[in-house]
Amino acid sequence: MDQFSLFAVPQPKAQAQQAPPAPLAPAPVPPEQQRMQELARALEYHNYRYHTLDAPEISDDTFDALFRELQALEEAYPQYKDQHSPTSRTGGQVLSALQKQKHALRMYGLDNVFSNEEWQDFVARLLRAEADAPTAFWCDPKLDGLALEIIYEHGRLVQALTRGDGEEGEVVTDAVRTIRTVPLRLHGAEPFPPLLEVRGEVVIFKDDFAALNAKQEALGKKLFANPRNAAAGALRQLDTSIAASRPLRFLAYSLGRATWGAAGECLRHSEVMQRLVGYGFATPPQGKLCPSPAAVEAYAAWTREHRPEFPMEIDGCVAKLDDLSAQEALGFTARAPRFAVAFKFPATQVETLLQDIKIQVGRTGTLTPVAVLQPVAVGGVVVSSATLHNEDEIHAKDVRVGDTVLVQRAGDVIPEVVAPVLAKRPQGAVPFVFPHVCPECGEPAQREEGEAAWRCTNITCKAVRMQSITHFVSKAGLDVQGVGKKWVEQLVAKGRVQSPADLFTVTWEELLAFDRMGEVLAEKFVDALHEAKEQASLHRFIAALGIRHVGEQTARTLAQHFDDIDALAHADAESLMALPDIGSEVAASIHTFFANHGNQAQLARLRGLGLWPVRQQAAPQAQGYLAGKKILFTGKLSMPRAKAQELAVAQGALLSSSLSKTLDILVIGEKPTPSKLDKASSLGITILSESEFLAHSAAVSAL
Ligand code: IVH
Repeated sequence: MDQFSLFAVPQPKAQAQQAPPAPLAPAPVPPEQQRMQELARALEYHNYRYHTLDAPEISDDTFDALFRELQALEEAYPQYKDQHSPTSRTGGQVLSALQKQKHALRMYGLDNVFSNEEWQDFVARLLRAEADAPTAFWCDPKLDGLALEIIYEHGRLVQALTRGDGEEGEVVTDAVRTIRTVPLRLHGAEPFPPLLEVRGEVVIFKDDFAALNAKQEALGKKLFANPRNAAAGALRQLDTSIAASRPLRFLAYSLGRATWGAAGECLRHSEVMQRLVGYGFATPPQGKLCPSPAAVEAYAAWTREHRPEFPMEIDGCVAKLDDLSAQEALGFTARAPRFAVAFKFPATQVETLLQDIKIQVGRTGTLTPVAVLQPVAVGGVVVSSATLHNEDEIHAKDVRVGDTVLVQRAGDVIPEVVAPVLAKRPQGAVPFVFPHVCPECGEPAQREEGEAAWRCTNITCKAVRMQSITHFVSKAGLDVQGVGKKWVEQLVAKGRVQSPADLFTVTWEELLAFDRMGEVLAEKFVDALHEAKEQASLHRFIAALGIRHVGEQTARTLAQHFDDIDALAHADAESLMALPDIGSEVAASIHTFFANHGNQAQLARLRGLGLWPVRQQAAPQAQGYLAGKKILFTGKLSMPRAKAQELAVAQGALLSSSLSKTLDILVIGEKPTPSKLDKASSLGITILSESEFLAHSAAVSAL
């Protein structure tokens, strides 16, 4: 491993000679406009030297003088002002709301590995799926920030989106223009790619964060909990001068869509990284190509050892298969790529005092024991509570109130109590007795045979209702901004709201009667619910219902296969279990939910109120060849694999993640994995070429 150097954003040597942004098109222009163009080019160049390379060539005063000169000219000659002018970096636009937009290609999360063994399992899985994949990996640190996608058309920044739920993000273009390490135009020489979606992380460096909090403190303002929150909060503000005032940095690490055009294709991820550097992006420090899986292990150990020296918070490293055609062939599972993984630092453990064990009532009535801890910092976050899961877990670990306990937090995983420190157990500490009544409503709780959880079965229990209403509008449900837990609690406590449907009937005037609720907030509250009602997608609606075992991913699967809630409610177990990742337990839970009269009444009310989303994609054509067939792709296709998968789903096909006898169709591109071909033919599975597959899709579309 190269020696670690502590510059702000280390870059390859070649980059120091990086050309300034491309010269603008030559044209006979008036002298004022020409001067404005010169100034813009110079300012962008010096901005890049200062913020991205950390190697300024001119003093701050000189920079400011040039900046003011440009500002004055833009005021005097607004007709010559360029949309990509460096003056747009100061922010100042105030938006009325953040718009949402779908990512053209979904922004996936990453699966985690925590040890060399888990890493080796990942590589073995990868090779089982794609035996010929060359096993060189591009590795870089895993940055703990906010994922962002910036879209460039012909070298110009046109839009920026947050990751959001991966499928849909928020448009934050104006705020992103204020980030000094984001090129407003790509650097280097034309031709630029007609389309380039650059993905990366917005972070705040540790030093900058300390200074930011010191400033907050001096101003008597609230301190930020960590750099990630400060960064995320800034980007999502409607007033873009807030983003401009925070020390945000964007580091690029991958791409969404890329149409390279005359710029020429990239075959490897390492080439992509090189190109991003050439285009003027900062990239994660210490990124490098590891020629083998063993080299990745060494890289992971090295980053762990040098973690404190990194200028930003990192929580592991990311290994991405370097070969892009192998990446494409491997594709994605429901939640993450098969060609990349986060190699996380092992969990950090600390000791603290277990002050109490409280019982929380969840939205399905589950009684969850929660450890109340003396606040303690674990891996950069202050932890004051942790789940103890259930009765058996408490007894198995034998944790007692008053114990000193070991608490651990691994990455973004929820903190947990590992074990008591027996040597420090106080005299008289007694084993915990799990209550058999609901702590909220006092009614008896039940623990079913074979289940770990005690459950409150009182359907009128206020705590259960509260939780299910909060869940309905939360990020995991309809994601209604401005209708937070605090207000729901008050509305439920007053008896005004007893179910999600009631929320939609609350009026502006009623809200004004609440403490600290002003006209603006009340209007936001009512408008947000109205908008959610009009725009809710089917998968969010299904997730919002809070059916046991139906999380966001399962809701998405269901929403792709059923036209509306009615269709889902009437689906039999067999058709549910034919869907990916749905087993008998989930199917049973869906049935139980829809068989419940209370739930039926709720749904009828929601429908009456106009909240009744339907499937967004075209319904599969029953007569289409692909409808209902399980399909798998292998080899390199002429289009991105995600596109082909989308096409198949739109025709009613079900995507499969592996080759087994339940598969109906295997579509083969160039250089398919031979073992897959053999297996498919021995199992009698239909094998289609890409053009045959496309012909079937087109035939259906034409029907
Ligand atoms: S690559 C297909 N590289 O971690 C792979 N992601 O936990 C795309 N992240 O959603 C991601 N540092 O936002 C990549 N060096 C890095 C990263 C990184 C942080 C984020 C990314 C992802 C999340 C998953």
